[in-house]
Amino acid sequence: MSFTSSPMHDGVKATDFIDILTADPQWLGHLLALAKNLKAAHRARQQNTAGAGRVLAMIFEKPSLRTRVSFDAAMTHIGGSAIYISPSEIGLGSRESVPDIARVLSGMCDAIMARTFAHQTIIDLARHASIPVINGLSDNSHPCQAMADVLTVQEEFGALEGRTIAYIGDGNNVARSLLEACAVFKMNFAIATPDAYRLPERDFQAVKALYPIECLITNDPRQALQHADAIYTDTWISMGQEAEKAARLPIFRPYQINADLLSNAPKHAIVLHCLPAYRGVEITDDVMDGPQSRVFQQAHNRLHFQKALLAEIFSPA
Ligand code: CP
Ligand code: NVA
Repeated sequence: MSFTSSPMHDGVKATDFIDILTADPQWLGHLLALAKNLKAAHRARQQNTAGAGRVLAMIFEKPSLRTRVSFDAAMTHIGGSAIYISPSEIGLGSRESVPDIARVLSGMCDAIMARTFAHQTIIDLARHASIPVINGLSDNSHPCQAMADVLTVQEEFGALEGRTIAYIGDGNNVARSLLEACAVFKMNFAIATPDAYRLPERDFQAVKALYPIECLITNDPRQALQHADAIYTDTWISMGQEAEKAARLPIFRPYQINADLLSNAPKHAIVLHCLPAYRGVEITDDVMDGPQSRVFQQAHNRLHFQKALLAEIFSPA
């Protein structure tokens, strides 16, 4: 299927996957359907050769469990392989410039997945690489996560249109990609954050300029989850924010997903968390391990969405 990036990131290629909002919505819908099929095929142990002989370079400036393992496993499942490149050995922007790294990898590998601090690093990799570049999380966004989240909601409820995702906690990279995914898939988005940790107004404006979306923005978690079909949280201290931990914890405490807060939500609502979870901090054990939790299904869906993305990237146009 052909697809395009929007001009929002000037100079990136149509095959780059940098943000939900810059991807073709039809392509995203196609990837979601393909992920569902590939998940069924995986369970049936069917062979897949979409990435035979292909190599994925995986650049990490930050730690990872899910992203690293799911991309590596996905490449193996489609007949290719992945190379993990740690922050210390590559020296992104210090040992070697980002454009030079992009140029070198373009002659040795077939795609790059990067997890970075600055979002601009991913855009610069995409601009200077002749091979597709995938955002595996930046300080700005986490689009592969949001697509796995949408797949999880779809598995639970079927049709996505009109469903409501209520995000409770920090207005961060995960929240931003989730907002964008809700817009693309015609879901409503409710978000409760402390006032000082809201997603900036420009994020809502950017989404609303492209899609009609109902957003509820509040500092009251009870209000946000009143009509929720899925309740979502993430760490209050993202990678790179460790020095803010002492200041953040008391501010975010009222936003913990616990049984008391959950009692205000519709009974059918599921609970999501991108993981890693800090149990007893942003989410309690009883909720995380309780009947409404879908957090491990959600984590497993990273594999299936990313396999769809890689299979598409490697398929002939
Ligand atoms: N959710 C997620 O991206 O997990 P990792 O940081 O372990 O990759
Ligand atoms: N917001 C978190 C997500 C981890 C998957 C972080 O950036 O650390």
